Amino acid sequence: METIISSIDDGNLDEIVSEASDILRRGGLVAFPTETVYGLGGNALDADAAGKIYAAKGRPSDNPLIVHISKKEDLSELAVDIPDMAWKLADAFWPGPLTIILKKNDKVPYGTTGGLDTVAIRMPKHPVALRLISESGIYIAAPSANLSGRPSPTRAEHVIEDMQGRIDMIIDAGPIEIGVESTIVDLTVDTPMILRPGFVTKSMLEDVVGDVCFDQTVISHSMTKDRPKAPGMKYRHYAPKAQLTIIEGDNERVVEKINAMAAENAAKGKKTGIIASAENSARYKADCVMTVGSRQDEESIGAMLFHVLRSFDHMDVDMILSEGFPEDDFGLAVMNRLIKAAGHSIIQV
Ligand code: TXA
Ligand code: MG
Repeated sequence: METIISSIDDGNLDEIVSEASDILRRGGLVAFPTETVYGLGGNALDADAAGKIYAAKGRPSDNPLIVHISKKEDLSELAVDIPDMAWKLADAFWPGPLTIILKKNDKVPYGTTGGLDTVAIRMPKHPVALRLISESGIYIAAPSANLSGRPSPTRAEHVIEDMQGRIDMIIDAGPIEIGVESTIVDLTVDTPMILRPGFVTKSMLEDVVGDVCFDQTVISHSMTKDRPKAPGMKYRHYAPKAQLTIIEGDNERVVEKINAMAAENAAKGKKTGIIASAENSARYKADCVMTVGSRQDEESIGAMLFHVLRSFDHMDVDMILSEGFPEDDFGLAVMNRLIKAAGHSIIQV
């Protein structure tokens, strides 16, 4: 399949949105920017279009898709038994990086929800995403626009790398602001439960709806036998090609340990990539050192993380070592993705 690649510039938004809307209405697939990561969109109420999304990504069919809407009221077009909390969260955080899980109605096909009776809904903030949803007149099912298991795409070149030839169109709107997927909160249980941490933190949610809990698998650093409630969270994810290990602990010992491991690797004739904070980056001796930003700046680390993981693939490194970063606020979501990318390989020093 030939993939149309269109870059947004000053004057062509209307034309691109109109072409993409046509494709979506005909049951095709379009990758588009959201404020979190690029999404791979198809008609959420058309089980065939949903099927094409799974095929393009190579995604297991039990892993449900998020349905994107362009106005809050559309919640009632997709869900039943909507609790007050859902409207409060929508008022507080939409448009924005929050996904809400509710009971689905009969219009939403099981092909979109991975066979579940619940549906994940989000109203994104990115202006191109909002325009596309409202102009196409459909609800857009969109997982992250990466091949299953690969780091989520935060730049159009990442989408092109994974999806060219597999989908109808890619809309390039440059690098994405947040860079980490939305927070997912399940409202079908007594206490709202965070199934995936993101930019909207637990305390931000609690300010609006009171007590909120975590799915235990989200905050556990080690592999657990428990099944995460978001089916997608159980898969090895965000994985770069080389094995990634996180080194955590006292800063001086972290730098020392990373340099020692890189030297050992070099002695075997192998190449090491290092994910470094701005504070430490000049202290590392290795082939490829990539800086994600200051240790205090979790927004910068989040925005850079998936790009850095993909960049190491192109540098053909044999091993990747990363500092651990603070887990305050949005830092929890950033470390959640880093730990999954490492397949839980963590060394404490
Ligand atoms: O920021 C985002 O959420 C991006 C952009 C494109 O909106 N989308 C995204 O979709 O990250 P995806 O498919 O890569 O991740 C969706 C996650 C998966 O872990 C899936 O298992 C979970 O949401 N999920 C979807 N529907 C669910 C449901 N009904 N119950 C539990 N988990 C659900
Ligand atoms: Mg994904």
